[in-house]
Amino acid sequence: MRKGAILQLTAISLVAGAICTVVALAIPWLPVSAGKEADRIHFVYWFTTVIAIAVFSVVIAVLVYSIWHFRAGPDDESDGPPTHGHTQLEIVWTAIPAVLVTAISIVSAVVLAQNGHAGSNPLIVKVKAVQFAWNFTYPNGKSYGYLTLPKGRHTKLEITSDDVIHSFWVPQLSQKQDAVPGQTNPLVVTPTRIGTFPVICTELCGLGHALMRSHVDIVSPQKFDTFIKGGSASKPSPGLAVFQANGCGGCHTFKPAGATGTVGPNLDDLEAAAKKANRGLLEDFIRESIVKPEAYIAPGYKDEMPHIFGTQIPPDQLTQLVHYLARGPNQ
Ligand code: CUA
Repeated sequence: MRKGAILQLTAISLVAGAICTVVALAIPWLPVSAGKEADRIHFVYWFTTVIAIAVFSVVIAVLVYSIWHFRAGPDDESDGPPTHGHTQLEIVWTAIPAVLVTAISIVSAVVLAQNGHAGSNPLIVKVKAVQFAWNFTYPNGKSYGYLTLPKGRHTKLEITSDDVIHSFWVPQLSQKQDAVPGQTNPLVVTPTRIGTFPVICTELCGLGHALMRSHVDIVSPQKFDTFIKGGSASKPSPGLAVFQANGCGGCHTFKPAGATGTVGPNLDDLEAAAKKANRGLLEDFIRESIVKPEAYIAPGYKDEMPHIFGTQIPPDQLTQLVHYLARGPNQ
């Protein structure tokens, strides 16, 4: 090949490569990483991207060079010269991609294996999905509607569902795991960044799917100790804890809980709703609506509320929740 051709091909490759590199780096394609597993997944992403940019640049260079140098003249309608394969070239363009694809699969397999490794002493948190909320239970038996994790410790999430298939996802932790009824799926996360990040359901699971969100607080190990011992400075009312643990806010609006769900009726004016429903005293009405939601369906809504809370919420917690809701929006 002529020296000039090689120079031109190299120049076009470099320009194409530079443009692709700018596009790859200037746009924030990935969420900020908040975990070791996410770091590894991001590494695979960049490893693959670098290979893709290199291959793309070479292909573009050959394409542009060929279109420019071998184009037909304005009146040239003759056939081109006959060509028959080029064994060396074919070996090269088969061997290089084979090596690259093998490299990508090895790197991916190593990352996959490392990301499933929870170490010898992981924190175990049971994650339960229900339509349309998340529930997180710690080894001490306490449950919350949101997740709190210590920075720097391997945590094994044991994910399951009470009704339909959901999927657990924290974008900053980079992994998704299905929540399947009757099955426990593990997910290992090792937080590396203190902050609050969203927990999102990424499996269409019903009317409230889009609102099936919670959050994960990643805190320092000291703060986590305080949290797990229950010594938090601002202790929420027990009713609020039940409200959050059962994910009521996923579907209902209730000001004291900061809940803004719109799948089910707004709970800020239960007194008016109870009068309208005419089903006994306010607290009885609330209790019935939780335990036996199908008994009275508020106008404009469907029988959409899960019929599980009567068995899921222990009696003392149910009473706390009923009192909490009955006290109304100004608490
Ligand atoms: Cu649960 Cu979507």
